Amino acid sequence: MKHLISPLDLSPDELSDLLSLAEKIYASPEKYSHCCNGKKLATLFYEPSTRTRLSFEAAMLNLGGSVLGFSSADSSSAAKGESVADTIRVISCYADICAMRHPKEGAPLVASMHSSIPVINAGDGGHNHPTQTLTDLLTIKSLKGHLDGLTIGFCGDLKFGRTVHSLINAMVRYPNTRFVLISPDELRIPAYLREETLDANHIPYEETRNLEAALPKLDILYMTRVQKERFFNEEDYIRLKDTFILDKKKLSLAREDMLILHPLPRVNEIATEVDEDPRAVYFKQANFGVYVRMALIMTLLGITVEN
Ligand code: CP
Repeated sequence: MKHLISPLDLSPDELSDLLSLAEKIYASPEKYSHCCNGKKLATLFYEPSTRTRLSFEAAMLNLGGSVLGFSSADSSSAAKGESVADTIRVISCYADICAMRHPKEGAPLVASMHSSIPVINAGDGGHNHPTQTLTDLLTIKSLKGHLDGLTIGFCGDLKFGRTVHSLINAMVRYPNTRFVLISPDELRIPAYLREETLDANHIPYEETRNLEAALPKLDILYMTRVQKERFFNEEDYIRLKDTFILDKKKLSLAREDMLILHPLPRVNEIATEVDEDPRAVYFKQANFGVYVRMALIMTLLGITVEN
């Protein structure tokens, strides 16, 4: 049995197969509409979510399966003090696969060690968000046509942004990737990521506060929200939250074929006037998330469909 806890749990070949399957499902979803008949997905969400939880549920329903779960710690026995280890032992009796989001880094890993069903990390604190990364990779591959040779700008909260950490880890496996890391000093990427991932793999990157200067260099701009829920001090949040706002004027500095991704939710960091620009693909990205999660559920359950 396999779990998905980190984006690196899938080998490059497994990842390539998974993205190919997602593309096949996207092209002909009806072929897959009964392949999980009788299977159940549990969504265990100890932290708020719109896209991840509902796209997982949509994915399982699209495959003919069914879903159960909870959408907040308060509505589960976690509120009575039950451990993640005990919860997953019980959920293993009720479902065939589960997706877990938790505010504590490492909670889905702990769950996987006590589970008899596949566990998918649906976001753990400021650590990882591997299924967002699968969504991002499918979006880039589908819209750019390739994953190698890209200059990717990450902008916003690079310190706590688990989607950023996971996508950096995934992209360093593709040849000739370059990064431009755009953040205030307080929200730079963690030192461990700089040392163990970027420096260790000799990945070219620059760090800057200047979004306007970075824009013309980019193939992909990955905007992120400054996350209020990760700050210990509200004053710091208020000071930093509007550091970067992408609007039409700034976007005029970017290449015509640059793609703007955002894991969403958005607050102020992309002006709504940008939404109509063809380079703004963040709502398409959310749609790709359903197809890649369908492919992931099938892969982890070992379900195949003859083409
Ligand atoms: N992208 C993402 O994780 O969104 P949600 O928090 O709404 O699931």
